[in-house]
Amino acid sequence: MPDSYADLSHHYDLVMTSGYYDYDAYAQALLARIGTRSDVLELGVGTGLVADRLLALGPKELRLTGIDHTDRMLAQARHRLGDRARLRREDVLDMSLPSSFDLAYSVGGVWYIVQDGETSWLSSHLMEEEDNETGLSNLAAAIRPGGSLLLSVQGPHRRADRTLPGGLLYTQHVEIDPEGRHTKDYFIEDQGAVVAHQRLRFRLFPRETADKLLTRCGFHFHGSDGVLWQYVRR
Ligand SMILES: C[S@@+](CC[C@H](N)C(=O)[O-])C[C@H]1O[C@@H](n2cnc3c(N)ncnc32)[C@H](O)[C@@H]1O
Repeated sequence: MPDSYADLSHHYDLVMTSGYYDYDAYAQALLARIGTRSDVLELGVGTGLVADRLLALGPKELRLTGIDHTDRMLAQARHRLGDRARLRREDVLDMSLPSSFDLAYSVGGVWYIVQDGETSWLSSHLMEEEDNETGLSNLAAAIRPGGSLLLSVQGPHRRADRTLPGGLLYTQHVEIDPEGRHTKDYFIEDQGAVVAHQRLRFRLFPRETADKLLTRCGFHFHGSDGVLWQYVRR
């Protein structure tokens, strides 16, 4: 589903930087794993929020490529990052990238980890297992053998609301079916009137299913520091 974030894109930065994600913490954790590896790919770069922190805090040798399938998100990323990163409109389902990346990461992007106590899932913007296999296989082809895939860890999707700067109200509603399919509605209200609404769907795969899926696509689990999970490309 191309352009999946189009309706939220205008308010995205406001929602995300008002307590949704701690971008500095993700950037620091990424940098600890990136080390001297310089050719890095972000999956679902969005408006470039985490990329911006990574480039600000990271070594100057870091070469970052960000991909995303939502034009309006990429336009903001281009404005934010300028020529500090290469940005490409790609969908993981049919992306064609050089097979040269040392490392790829996704912070709340196409894939990430949801953790609730001792239980964890692979959360995906792709609803079907076959599509995840296609996307992860395309990704494996872009990472050199021995390279890494880092996935951010976040808490479960739950109903929540929060006041945003400028007096806006942000609300999220979540419905979950027995197969782990989440339907999440994001609302932005201004003095009681809904000024933006985005419906997104996610699929959560239990840990065991996720590891089998990733193994079939050429990755094995390497470890977690609680902020990121690391898979290594065989
Ligand atoms: C929650 S945003 C994360 C953005 C960014 N990583 C951040 O930290 O703010 C998820 C992004 O993934 C992108 N996305 C979702 N499915 C995708 C797909 N199949 N291919 C490429 N990008 C996708 C969306 O367009 C959106 O910009």
